[in-house]
Amino acid sequence: MADQKRLVAGNWKMNGNLSDGLALARGVAERAREPHACDLLICPPFTLLATVGEALAGSGVALGGQDCHPAASGAFTGCISAEMLKDAGCTHAIVGHSERRHTCGETDADVRAKTEAAWRAGLVAIVCVGETRVEREAGRARAVVSAQIAGSIPDGANAGRLIVAYEPVWAIGTGLTPTTADIAEIHAAIRTLVPNGTRILYGGSVNPKNAAELLALDEVDGSLVGGASLKADDFWAIAQACD
Ligand code: PGA
Repeated sequence: MADQKRLVAGNWKMNGNLSDGLALARGVAERAREPHACDLLICPPFTLLATVGEALAGSGVALGGQDCHPAASGAFTGCISAEMLKDAGCTHAIVGHSERRHTCGETDADVRAKTEAAWRAGLVAIVCVGETRVEREAGRARAVVSAQIAGSIPDGANAGRLIVAYEPVWAIGTGLTPTTADIAEIHAAIRTLVPNGTRILYGGSVNPKNAAELLALDEVDGSLVGGASLKADDFWAIAQACD
């Protein structure tokens, strides 16, 4: 999408204590004061939202949560609501990450409810989709992703509050990536299913070496970065690949 800046989002997953999370956030904030062509977002663990939010203040780097509960509040031990994320300074929430779909058993219906919750709280929802290796090898990648989109995105979507992240499960944390042709094909399929202008990120083993090639694809509006977001220099190198 030529008319929108690309977005490079760091998903720290379950990594970081107060001291190294603060150092990493400060490192990103410092680099983000240099000119750059993309939007930046960091999604730290819940325990670091306040600390990272303070470190990012004034840097232009946005803050996001890695998940949210469908309800606004209540007896849901261990869960965090979208309203709580908003209160902690978040503007975005990742929902439906494959690590939650596969290790926490989240269904498309769950992801849909979480997306609705994010919107209710005024957050941009980053809805993650992606096929497993078995599904890709069976030639079902496009069908699986299309079904996830249909099931996970509620009515009322618009480009201002929806971002889709295409993250093939087999590419996450493995060092493997699909071919650029495969990424372009899936992104193009997703684009027919979401409102005009919706940013579609690619995620899965994005690193400073492959970022320029992946982010140069017309169909790729940015990246959701896991492992490489844990080093400020690597995250920044990926951001600079948007130039
Ligand atoms: P990775 O993770 O960059 O470590 O592959 C991406 C993600 O899970 O969002």
